[in-house]
Amino acid sequence: MTIKYPNQTVKLLLERASCRSFQNKKIPAVVMSYILNAGVHAATGGNLQPYSIIRITKLTNRKKIAKLAGQGFIADAPVSLLFCIDWHRLKRWAKLETAPFAATSAFRHFWISFQDTMITAQSICTAADSFGLGSVYIGTVMEFFPMLKRMFRLPNGVMPVVLLCLGYPKSKLVSRNKLGIDTVVHNEKYIELSDKKLLGAFNQKYPGMKIEINRERLKMIEKVCKDIGGDKFAQKCLARIKKQGYISWSQRYFGLHYVANEMPKQNEKLLKLFEQFGFEWFKKYQIPKSK
Ligand SMILES: Cc1cc2nc3c(=O)[nH]c(=O)nc-3n(C[C@H](O)[C@H](O)[C@H](O)COP(=O)(O)O)c2cc1C
Repeated sequence: MTIKYPNQTVKLLLERASCRSFQNKKIPAVVMSYILNAGVHAATGGNLQPYSIIRITKLTNRKKIAKLAGQGFIADAPVSLLFCIDWHRLKRWAKLETAPFAATSAFRHFWISFQDTMITAQSICTAADSFGLGSVYIGTVMEFFPMLKRMFRLPNGVMPVVLLCLGYPKSKLVSRNKLGIDTVVHNEKYIELSDKKLLGAFNQKYPGMKIEINRERLKMIEKVCKDIGGDKFAQKCLARIKKQGYISWSQRYFGLHYVANEMPKQNEKLLKLFEQFGFEWFKKYQIPKSK
């Protein structure tokens, strides 16, 4: 079925999909330049642009990241862009201009710069799509931020957020089901969906997506459920799995993949990571002295 779109931009946005299989074909410099320029023209809080982009094209670096991330296709993408929050450049600017600076100590600045960085990344994605390129974000780079800091000589105040792989897709991309506007858009006030409608929306997004039961998976879900809700909850979850005859997509997400018992335990480690990258907004409030 051919769908009619009112314009090319809408077609591009509605048909977008992540790409994990790339042709062995370079991206022309002029194309790359347009794409990157689309990024720097994105909206940014206070027009400050507190971000930097590390462009990675060397095969050795691509292979290294692919190995660290455990995602081989990263090496096949001719270009990967590492999007970083960057308060280092603004700190230097302030120093050169004899202006006061405390942005790395303020969560408010961090919060906005995170948004700025992702908005820039998404403009780059859309621009890449418009040239027939494919892209995929890689969030698991989070597991090895310190390695990236060393690899790309990131100064303090520069912290990676996400990697974006770019390249020409090997085959036509197929867009995935999403929750529709009926579910995610609320007119004037937040509307609580009925249980039936909510389940219906998710079932439409993940039609027939059931995970086969095996001993290992059951053991894992049981452990996660026990940690989160105690024995009773674990038994309730196992009984439900047994009754339905499969592991549901929600049980898979939070019981097997993004395991609910482990995720919050990472908080402390992540705060230490922020400190390692020169951020201290989570510490007790103090105004740093300008040097
Ligand atoms: C912040 C973020 C991190 C992601 N990390 C990964 C990743 O590490 N590996 C991967 O293959 N896809 C990753 N993705 C892509 C998502 O899996 C993908 O967007 C999602 O499954 C929806 O599919 P679609 O992009 O084709 O609509 C990431 C996406 C985002 C926005």
